Amino acid sequence: APPPARPVPPVSSVLIDDIGALVTNDTALGAGDLGEVAGAALVVESGRVAWCGPRSRAPAADVRVDAAGRCVMPGFVDSHSHIVFAGDRSREFGDRMSGRPYEAGGIRTTVAATRDASDAELLGNATRLLREARAQGTTTLEVKSGYGLSVADEERCLRAAARLTGEVTFLGAHVVPPEYEDDPDGYVDLVAGAMLEACAPHARWVDVFCERGAFDEEQARRVLRAGRDRGLLPRVHGNQLGRGPGVRLAVQEGAASVDHCTHLEDADVAALADSAAEGPATVATLLPGVDFSTRQPYPDARALLDAGARVALASDCNPGSCFTSSMALCIALAVREMRMTPEEAVRAATAGGAEALRRDDVGRLSVGARADIVLLEAPNPVYLAYRPGVPQVAAVWKDGELVAG
Ligand code: NIG
Ligand code: FE
Repeated sequence: APPPARPVPPVSSVLIDDIGALVTNDTALGAGDLGEVAGAALVVESGRVAWCGPRSRAPAADVRVDAAGRCVMPGFVDSHSHIVFAGDRSREFGDRMSGRPYEAGGIRTTVAATRDASDAELLGNATRLLREARAQGTTTLEVKSGYGLSVADEERCLRAAARLTGEVTFLGAHVVPPEYEDDPDGYVDLVAGAMLEACAPHARWVDVFCERGAFDEEQARRVLRAGRDRGLLPRVHGNQLGRGPGVRLAVQEGAASVDHCTHLEDADVAALADSAAEGPATVATLLPGVDFSTRQPYPDARALLDAGARVALASDCNPGSCFTSSMALCIALAVREMRMTPEEAVRAATAGGAEALRRDDVGRLSVGARADIVLLEAPNPVYLAYRPGVPQVAAVWKDGELVAG
C-alpha cells in the first residue's frame, strides 16, 4: 500500500529577500521622504507585513522570494478613477489634440453609451481596467459612478464598482444630464434625494464636480451635505478648468480630498495648507494625466508642497479627460512637469493616495500594513520617473497574494 499522503502545510509566511531598496514610507524606519532601507528584507504573514528591516536580521519564513537587489515598494493607491462606463471618446481626444478645447459636456457622450450598456458589459469593462491597473502596480483603486445620471443607472454603476473595490464613490453630481438641461436645480433635488437614497448603500464616498458647466458652489454644497447625512464622506472635483470655489468648498466641508487643483489662487493653497496643519487634511489630489490629455497647464505642486499642503497623485482613469491607468506615467509627469522630486512623487502616489482615502492600512510597508507590494524591475524608485513609458513592474502582491508577475 502507498504510504499515507503527508499533509502539505499551508504557506503561512513569505520572506522577500535581498531587496536593494525597500520603500516603507515610514520615515522612522529608513532614510529620506520614503523611509528607504537599503539591503532589506520583508516578511508577509496572513496578508500583512509581519516584519521588515535589514536583511541580516531577517527571521526565517516558509517561502523565500529573491528580489535580487531590486526595489520593493507599497502598491500604488490610485484614489481617483471613473472606470465604470461604456463606449470610447478617442475621436474627441484626436479633435482636442488638433486644438478643440476640453469641455465638461463631453461627459454626456459617455453617459449615453453607459445607459445603453448591460450590467455585464459595464462590469466586464471595469474589470479589464482594474486588471490593467493592477498589472501596473495599483493595489488600491477608488472607483466613481457618474456616467449613469439616473437613479437606476447610477445604482447599477455603483453595484459594478462595489464588485471591484471597497473605495466606491457616488458621483451623481458629475454633470446635469440632457433631460434636466432646463432644470439643473431639479436635477440637484434628484441627486440629493431619491438617487442618493438608492446609491448610498453601495458607496463610501460622495463626490461632486464643482466647476463652470457642471455644479456651482451652492449646488455642490447641497449634494455633499446630503451625502454626509446618509453616512458618505465628501470629496470634490475642483479647479480643473478654471479658478473657482471648489477647493475652498472642499476644505470648508471637511472633504478628504479635492481633485484636479489645476487652477489655484494663493487663498486656495493657503486653505489646503491650513487644513493640513489642523488635520485631518483635505488632500490636494493632482491628476497630471488629465492636464496632459487635455492640453492644460499642470498644477503648481511645488507651491502646494512648499506651503505644507498634503499632495496625492492619481490617474483619473476615464474615457474623456484621461484614459490612462498608469500611475508610473503620473509620477513621471509630476517630476518632469510639476517640479516634484522623484521621492515626493512616489510618496504622493502611495502614501498620498492612502491619506486622500483616509486609510492607514495601505500606502506604506511597515509592520501591520496590508501586504500590498510591488517588486520593481529597477534598483530604486527614482526609476519610475527616470525611465518614462517603460514597464517596470516585475510582480504585484495584494493582501499577500501574488496577483501579477
Ligand atoms: O475627472 N472632471 C470631471 N470628470 C472627469 C472627466 C470625465 C469625462 O470627461 O468623461 C475628470 O476629469
Ligand atoms: Fe474625475
